Amino acid sequence: METLKAIFTRRSVRRYRPDPIPDEIMQNLLRAAMSAPSAGNEQAWQFVVVTQRALLDRIPAIHPHAQMLTEAQAALLVCGDLQREEHRGYWVQDCSAATENLLLAAHDQGLGAVWVGVYPREERILPLRELFRLPETVIPFSLVPIGYPTEAAMAEDRFNLERVHFNQW
Ligand SMILES: Cc1cc2nc3c(=O)[nH]c(=O)nc-3n(C[C@H](O)[C@H](O)[C@H](O)COP(=O)(O)O)c2cc1C
Repeated sequence: METLKAIFTRRSVRRYRPDPIPDEIMQNLLRAAMSAPSAGNEQAWQFVVVTQRALLDRIPAIHPHAQMLTEAQAALLVCGDLQREEHRGYWVQDCSAATENLLLAAHDQGLGAVWVGVYPREERILPLRELFRLPETVIPFSLVPIGYPTEAAMAEDRFNLERVHFNQW
């Protein structure tokens, strides 16, 4: 898919068919995530690939806006790795860029996905850290449920010239 077309047509997808996701497609998504820019190329991220039904089904009890996990075939937990951080505080931007790349790659591959926010909410970070046995220095940042969409989502043009300031405010 052409890049701009992918960006303009990506939408959050929260309903999925039960078809499994081939391993090579999951690897493409991870490669896309790791192709993201990061501060000084620090790549302060880690990814947990979640495919076990029992784990996916436990997430809605932890996160109030993650009901779609019960239908998703898989989810990728994007985490910040403080031990890999070279530029203090920038792991958040690294993980944001990786998450957006994941969403665009999923869309390109005919998959549906949605950014489920975790960081900076402590009440989501702590139980997810426990569920996935993350070390103390690894912070769950976002969760991206993935599956083949039940229906095509409508593109939405959000271009708004009122939010654009030329040279000075
Ligand atoms: C930081 C962040 C956190 C989000 N958290 C959730 C969430 O917890 N659950 C959810 O269903 N969608 C979540 N979303 C998706 C937004 O609701 C969605 O991107 C927004 O409504 C725009 O719709 P679109 O993605 O279809 O363009 C989140 C998005 C971002 C960027």
